[in-house]
Amino acid sequence: MSDRLVIFDTTLRDGEQSPGASMTREEKVRIARQLERMRVDVIEAGFPASSIGDFEAVRDVARAVRESTVCGLSRANDRDISRAVEALREARSWRIHTFLATSALHMEKKLRMSPEDVLTQACHAVRFARNHTDDIEFSPEDASRSDIDFLCRVIEGVIEAGARTINIPDTVGYAVPAQLASLIQTLRERVPNSDKAVWSVHCHNDLGLAVANSLAAVMAGARQIECTINGLGERAGNTALEEIVMAVRTRRDFFGLTTGIDATQIVPASKLVSSITGFVVQPNKAVVGANAFAHASGIHQDGVLKSRETYEIMRAEDVGWSANKIVLGKLSGRNAFRQRLGELGIALDSELDLNEAFKRFKELADKKADIFDEDIHALFADAGTHPGADHFRLISMRQHSETGEKPLAELVLMCEGEEHRVSAQGSGPVDATFKAIESVAASQAELVLYSVNAVTSGTESQGEVTVRLSRAGRIVNGVGADTDIIVASAHAYLSALNKLHAVTERFNPQTGEV
Ligand code: KIV
Ligand code: ZN
Repeated sequence: MSDRLVIFDTTLRDGEQSPGASMTREEKVRIARQLERMRVDVIEAGFPASSIGDFEAVRDVARAVRESTVCGLSRANDRDISRAVEALREARSWRIHTFLATSALHMEKKLRMSPEDVLTQACHAVRFARNHTDDIEFSPEDASRSDIDFLCRVIEGVIEAGARTINIPDTVGYAVPAQLASLIQTLRERVPNSDKAVWSVHCHNDLGLAVANSLAAVMAGARQIECTINGLGERAGNTALEEIVMAVRTRRDFFGLTTGIDATQIVPASKLVSSITGFVVQPNKAVVGANAFAHASGIHQDGVLKSRETYEIMRAEDVGWSANKIVLGKLSGRNAFRQRLGELGIALDSELDLNEAFKRFKELADKKADIFDEDIHALFADAGTHPGADHFRLISMRQHSETGEKPLAELVLMCEGEEHRVSAQGSGPVDATFKAIESVAASQAELVLYSVNAVTSGTESQGEVTVRLSRAGRIVNGVGADTDIIVASAHAYLSALNKLHAVTERFNPQTGEV
């Protein structure tokens, strides 16, 4: 059996299914380029049949990525598969990932199909995909709650039909490590043609067991793990890529496996995904949390100074913490800026866009002496590339707060090409700013999250604000960054409103809900 573990990243597909994490085409390409730089084996770029936007995003990723295999998800039907083929066709290497639920619960309540029909449809879908490519992955959705005899029959059938990767999803995060390991082992033993496929797992983190379950499956013979940056994903998320990669690498003595991942790209990838989606990384998160390598206690510090290994099992620089370096400053010119954008995988459509971005960079460099990669990414946090981005725009603002006085915010906003001067008082400057915006927007949205994080360290740092709004079941995140956190807050709120304003009709591949 191979000692190479395939890393399949689904940040752009399952990760994007978390409410509020939707990304624009340009953002998806930027993340895909970073995943490629990290040498991820397979990038699941989206679900092309869900909407025109998703189709175009997968196609753009397929065009942009040269080193990793680009994958598209499709339900097990001809139309979805054809759409995925069309979106992927320009990739240098591509894969179709098709799925159909096999648990009694899903077949009866969701699909309303008999087990025999599910078996027939699964095999038909793989055979249909086989007309277009050899690289086919099949997932029996909700496998960990499926009847084992039926699961064996379906898997045998789809391997016979041409599937080369069999992915076992723990769709609802119900499995525990020993059980998932035993499931993989049983399937490998009982499915007669099991040696014709690579075994994979896709775990959800509802019980906080996604990484443990995935590693247990690896011990039982799985050689592909599906995972996401920062563990982003539906509900409690998916298996965290950074934890899997570093577990396998740090404990090579135990697992005896390698991955192709360049681990120094992990922290930049984590920061990029967090800044684009507005999903903040908790400080104590393994590998990528701000405290993961901070030795706060005096005893630990003493130990680390004497000998690093006393309290450190990994080195911060090995996962990319030291990549946080000054890259540009006030005197940097357009060419240096353009070159760094290229290195960061930020593609601009025209010279006009470059001029606009360079202007924003210069404004930032006037306020802040040292510009880091994170600052450059933050410049594009709300670059206005999503549909509807221009509906609301901040022209200028000022706010006043003073001890014993009610804070006041005054804003000039553009709304559909018309200028509005608005002002409001609030319990604090942020509250006043949002109330002033709402006096024009009247969005009726509920603010469900407001958070501020420093993009880099020090008080000179830009503040990155995330605003999550909910309206009629639709949840969106807006992100804004500025050295003035009230201005960043206004940008984040307007960005969220613009996303709410944009009409998108994409739907969830598993539930079918919009
Ligand atoms: O969780 C799941 O079952 C999935 C499948 C589509 C693989 O995401
Ligand atoms: Zn999933």
